[in-house]
Amino acid sequence: MPIDQGTPVERQLIFTADAAAGQIALGELQAADPHAKLLDWLAPGVGRLALVMTWDALAHRLRAEPPVFCRHICPVQRQLSVHKHIFEPEPLAQAALQLVPRLHAGERFSVQTRLLGEDWSYGPYDVNMRLAKLVASQGLPLDVRDPQQVLSVVLAGNSGYLGVSRTRDNLSGWAGGERRFRREPEQISRAEFKLLEAVELFGLAIPARGTALDLGAAPGGWTRILRNRGMRVVAVDPAELDPRLADDPGIEHVRELAQAYLQRNGARYDVILNDMRMDALESAGLTLAAMERLAPRGWALMTLKLPEGHMARVATETLSLLRQQATVLGARQLFHNRSEITVALGRKKGR
Ligand SMILES: C[S@@+](CC[C@H](N)C(=O)[O-])C[C@H]1O[C@@H](n2cnc3c(N)ncnc32)[C@H](O)[C@@H]1O
Repeated sequence: MPIDQGTPVERQLIFTADAAAGQIALGELQAADPHAKLLDWLAPGVGRLALVMTWDALAHRLRAEPPVFCRHICPVQRQLSVHKHIFEPEPLAQAALQLVPRLHAGERFSVQTRLLGEDWSYGPYDVNMRLAKLVASQGLPLDVRDPQQVLSVVLAGNSGYLGVSRTRDNLSGWAGGERRFRREPEQISRAEFKLLEAVELFGLAIPARGTALDLGAAPGGWTRILRNRGMRVVAVDPAELDPRLADDPGIEHVRELAQAYLQRNGARYDVILNDMRMDALESAGLTLAAMERLAPRGWALMTLKLPEGHMARVATETLSLLRQQATVLGARQLFHNRSEITVALGRKKGR
């Protein structure tokens, strides 16, 4: 029997969102390509879409208007049968080999594999290793940390889907947008991962000096990160900070509500953070009030808590409020966000 080399597929992609936001992400992609059709859900939040426009045209459109809930996309250019319990690298290798001419010579590449669902008797690492070796043998430089182009492999049920694309067109440089960080022993809260992911995704620079305002700072994970990068932090929260932050002279813990603090304080800040657990519109209003004190080249970052069943509506309304008075540098439901999105803001021109 000839080896299955994969059926050529055109104008398909696999998109990934949080399990609870799959439909919203689908809507975002259909807003960009109105006649695109959902083919199937491969896993909660992971769908396969038949496009009408080309991958390049869609990527161009999404660059101009990036989606908020859709966290990752990758094209499908080959489809083949796979077995969950037996690792058969040869058909995958043959399909990958056919896609090598689509990669750009001399540009750094990576293979990003996801196995959706349970019961696989092999792992993403097995596929990545095999295919990366194969593509590298064709003369392309492998760089798993900072690739310019990606061979994406998604295995789901008894099907495998492969496609190559520029990393920047995938909305995230990580397979499925799953940006994982190593847990440090000094870590104070899981929220730290949100800040790290947002800084990387939105390309925010944490200044080596200067002062940050952290609204809703407790227990202090975000404060810890900014302190480690050299900033002084004013941490506003009626709740206790982690005792490990107590003796740090670079942290001023203001034990009051953000509303009260902002009414009486006129200091200037280089960075403003807001991770307060409160109604999204109210929280956005407080961020905008705080941004009156933002240094001209400063930025703000906030999470918007979204009520179940109304996530898209509340996100849209709140982003539209923020856009009236600030520049939205980026907005995304991050891998480390649950029922919330994270928004990066800068001063509006002329303000
Ligand atoms: C999710 S936690 C913040 C976690 C923090 N970013 C970290 O990295 O550890 C939310 C915090 O918002 C605080 N908060 C809620 N409403 C507030 C308000 N009106 N003013 C100040 N803090 C508030 C809560 O006390 C809580 O500590």
